[in-house]
Amino acid sequence: MRSHALSLIVVLVLSPLAALALGWGAWWYAESMTRNRIDSSRSMHRIRSPLHGEQAGSVTSVPAMSARALFSAYCAQCHGETGDGQGTQVLDRPARSFKDGGFSFGNTRDAIFRTISSGIGGTPMPGYADSLSVEERTALAAYVQTLGPPTLDVSTEDMVLQVGQVPVVVRGHLPSLGEGLPEHPRGLLLGGTDGLTTEYRVDDVRLLAVRQGRFVERTDWTGRGGTPLKPLGPVIHLVGGGDPPATFELEAGLEARLLGTTTRDGRASVLYGLGDDEHLVRVEEWTEAFTHPAGPGYVRHFDIQHLDEDRMPTFRLPGSDQRIIDRIDGPGRTWIVREGGDGRIEIHGFDPASATLTARGSEEGDLRLQLPRGTEATLSIVTLLPASWDESARELLRTGESP
Ligand code: HEC
Repeated sequence: MRSHALSLIVVLVLSPLAALALGWGAWWYAESMTRNRIDSSRSMHRIRSPLHGEQAGSVTSVPAMSARALFSAYCAQCHGETGDGQGTQVLDRPARSFKDGGFSFGNTRDAIFRTISSGIGGTPMPGYADSLSVEERTALAAYVQTLGPPTLDVSTEDMVLQVGQVPVVVRGHLPSLGEGLPEHPRGLLLGGTDGLTTEYRVDDVRLLAVRQGRFVERTDWTGRGGTPLKPLGPVIHLVGGGDPPATFELEAGLEARLLGTTTRDGRASVLYGLGDDEHLVRVEEWTEAFTHPAGPGYVRHFDIQHLDEDRMPTFRLPGSDQRIIDRIDGPGRTWIVREGGDGRIEIHGFDPASATLTARGSEEGDLRLQLPRGTEATLSIVTLLPASWDESARELLRTGESP
């Protein structure tokens, strides 16, 4: 810029030297072009370096393109120009919306830098270690941070992740939920703004446990990798004793497959596909705190989309191996009361207008919900965890009111 202005002055004031000045300008321009070309060919052939040796650089080293231009060129087709996750490219799973703060691998500059460098295996998110310089990736990480909500800016020193105005999703190694229960190296924690945290195992997208209270400490950022996360809220419900059966059934061998997570509309959801490669059924599942006069609990919501209207999956009511104590038809909900582990009571409720209750074979307690035919269905299953079970609790379920 300065050399251009300089040449301009030279031209105007010292016209006899104009030809000389222009010649120099042209040489300078040609020279810088060759240098650029050498630079880019070098970065294209750069040997993939081991990532743990690499760190986000300082922002003072400015890359050739602005961070915004880099984002527009490399990322926007999937993540959207504003980072809202609404890019133009069709993906089999949604790209992350940075606006909603949906970072499952951490939202510090270093964590985002690592994601940009190595990509996310098994998802369309590519790694850029080979194609973008450390400076460019650092600038991008800082830029992605500016697209997210400020309440989620967690530094590595402050590892307790809190859920503020928006829900948070964290992916990582989950600790064992109790004696004799396994750890889950591929786990998912969804933190709601209502203080509820749900834990899923990623491989078959099953809900393992529900917690209430503070969210999570990122202990995995301290060790050399493999250190489990530390969810902070106490477990209020260990689903299926820690090894829950599949929720949906369509045909033999059907397993849920994670498509992604979202933090849209103020809720954190898991999105999964059931069935073959065409993902015949897509489910969005999210959980909310719920209280009934008969006791506290939570509600699981399912939005189900099906391409084939003749084949709706059946839903398996939770607690199939637990003895049924009672069945109560209350206002708007049918309640199945079961004896949980350790003499505790678990109550599951559903809206009878949304599905038909059927029993499976000879297993009396193994109840299913038959969803109506069609291409869409919604289902909400309430789980209540009352402190005790007696005639007055029964009456509360029947009438839906406190005495
Ligand atoms: C081909 C599509 C595509 C492109 C191009 C792409 N991404 Fe992604 N990105 C994704 C998808 C899909 C996910 C979510 C993956 C998952 O489900 O975990 C994602 C996730 C992310 C995440 C979230 C990681 C976390 O903690 O959850 C970050 C950060 C990210 N991308 C940054 C970038 C940046 C920066 C660029 C450009 C240099 C970029 N992405 C280019 C598809 C893409």
